[in-house]
Amino acid sequence: MDFAHEIISWYLVHKRDLPWRDTTDAYIIWLSEIILQQTRVEQGMPYFYKFREAYPTVADFANAAEDDILKLWQGLGYYSRGRNMHKAARQVMEQFDGEFPRSYRQLVTLKGIGEYTAAAIASFAGNEAQAVVDGNVFRLLSRYFGITEPINSTKGKKLFTELANKLIDKERPGLYNQAAMEFGSLQCRPKNPLCETCPLRLTCYAFTHKQTEQLPVKLKTQKIRTRYFNYIVAVKNDEIVIHRRGPNDIWQNLHEFPLFETETELTVHDLVNLPEFKAAFGEVSIEKISPPVKHILSHQKLITRFIELGTFSEGFLQSNRWKYVSFKQLEELAQPKLIFGFLKNFSKLSSN
Ligand code: ADE
Repeated sequence: MDFAHEIISWYLVHKRDLPWRDTTDAYIIWLSEIILQQTRVEQGMPYFYKFREAYPTVADFANAAEDDILKLWQGLGYYSRGRNMHKAARQVMEQFDGEFPRSYRQLVTLKGIGEYTAAAIASFAGNEAQAVVDGNVFRLLSRYFGITEPINSTKGKKLFTELANKLIDKERPGLYNQAAMEFGSLQCRPKNPLCETCPLRLTCYAFTHKQTEQLPVKLKTQKIRTRYFNYIVAVKNDEIVIHRRGPNDIWQNLHEFPLFETETELTVHDLVNLPEFKAAFGEVSIEKISPPVKHILSHQKLITRFIELGTFSEGFLQSNRWKYVSFKQLEELAQPKLIFGFLKNFSKLSSN
């Protein structure tokens, strides 16, 4: 059996029963593929169900308010995916008469759809012979064929994509793509691959050369930037001060508390005595400081403290950047995970 047949035979026995696999509806497949980018299947699954139920058609998605989409997206991370989906859904309504495209060529014109997602939708919904090359497939090909070109270099991406397009089963491209991804995910796992039960092991370069730990090769990615976030938690008469994040940074349009960011670690005493802090918040008394919470994003590490104020001058609330909302209103607003994680245990909230 050739490579594609082996992979498909394995898949037909071992595949997981996933809800986006029994449809050829391009819209539903698009929903699942965007949700699953940078997200594990178990984590993405509840979001897939929520979105499919809230927006059963692309028209429903296009007509939704962006804030509602972000609220449903809450906790999944990489929020630009949700915003781009909204734009793409509107493009489908305007440029494709509401019919979600199925061809690779048309799909790549939609916001947020790159080569990977276009190949997935075109092959699953349109049975077009476009190879899907995700992290699982990169790893599988690198190990099986012994390719040492880094999978995240431009040259590597091109090489792996060309190879994958040669290997694809032209009669059953959708099935082959699902199979290759599933094989990479379940059998050719990143750590502790299941070589002993692998049907490809006798012809696998990495297995026969004891190289599974060394392959695939990955270039070191850009340096992680550390940011220190100090959130100011100010409550008065059952209302809390919040702020909506602006453009050009993480978490666009999500809601948070007034933020004072520093590039270095400071004691709270030094922080509140900074002239910039005084200019923003005036004189404040501090009631409680949370232990620092570490939050890792793709290229950033956030070290966050929540500083609950006792007394504060109304002055800082004059700023039109901030506003009071009730706890109930706050629940309706999309927030980063860090914020709703804090709110879950916030004593002034739970007594309400
Ligand atoms: N990850 C991304 N797309 C997937 C799919 N179609 N099935 C399983 N895992 C996936």
